[in-house]
Amino acid sequence: MSYENILVDKSGAIGIVTLNRPQQLNALSYGLVKDTALALEELDRDPEIRVMIVTGGEKVFAAGADIKEMADAGAFDERVQGRLAYRDRINKITKPMIAAVSGYALGGGCELALSCDIIIASETARFGQPEINLGTIPGSGGTQRLTRLVGKYRAMEMVLAGDFIEADEAKRLGLANKVVPVESLMDEAKKLAQKIAAKPPLAVKFAKESIQKALNTPLDEGLEFERKSFYLLFSSEDRREGMKAFLEKRKPEFKGK
Ligand code: CAA
Repeated sequence: MSYENILVDKSGAIGIVTLNRPQQLNALSYGLVKDTALALEELDRDPEIRVMIVTGGEKVFAAGADIKEMADAGAFDERVQGRLAYRDRINKITKPMIAAVSGYALGGGCELALSCDIIIASETARFGQPEINLGTIPGSGGTQRLTRLVGKYRAMEMVLAGDFIEADEAKRLGLANKVVPVESLMDEAKKLAQKIAAKPPLAVKFAKESIQKALNTPLDEGLEFERKSFYLLFSSEDRREGMKAFLEKRKPEFKGK
């Protein structure tokens, strides 16, 4: 499939989606969000791909939802609702997604990074939820996911004051895994993606699902889900191979079965 607003690249087991509306600072228009959701779903189905990287390039990750597109929209405007419906589909991707963030990740851009499973930030990354300045509030998890990650007080400050936080502060808050120089951002993201891609894919999928549950469910329910996933993996060939290889002191050969 070819896309108008993004670039899609495959490098071995890694799928890279690059947001590509540089003149608009990668503002998340209906078309861009639709393209991103469809491309990620396509990569999610691709048996050769094991990990995805979502990036906006070196200059900007995404300056938020497209304000021009939203300015005259009503509450039930098809494009606003359609954009958010595609947005929700991104949260259902089953393979690990790494956000490689450089420059602004604002509003919907910050929320897109938060929908990924790991965030690598460049030194120029700036995270923020400035929707308040436009008379609105975050609409894709900026009051929910962000609060669960950084806690009530920091989330309140980011969302109510609309201030941006810098890369080091984001790392301190647990919003970024790592901060690296701009020029090594993609190398670092790919290095981590390759490391994860070499792990047994079923265990990776179940681990992602279980960790996501931790943000959505009471502890008892999450523990039950984890236990069932743990038992289920005993029926996988890769689990048997992993343990056998350890005992035979050799490298395991995982097949994704
Ligand atoms: N939507 C549409 N266009 C945008 C945009 C956005 N979110 N952000 C930037 N642009 C456009 C600008 O209009 C400008 O276009 P023109 O050249 O045609 O005028 C171009 O990108 C470059 O932007 P600036 O000249 O403003 O660049 P700057 O370096 O001076 O400032 C910035 C950068 C601080 C990111 C500033 O552009 C800005 O504040 N952008 C808006 C950020 C924002 O409010 N995001 C939240 C959007 S709402 C949202 O995301 C809702 C949701 O959760 C669903």
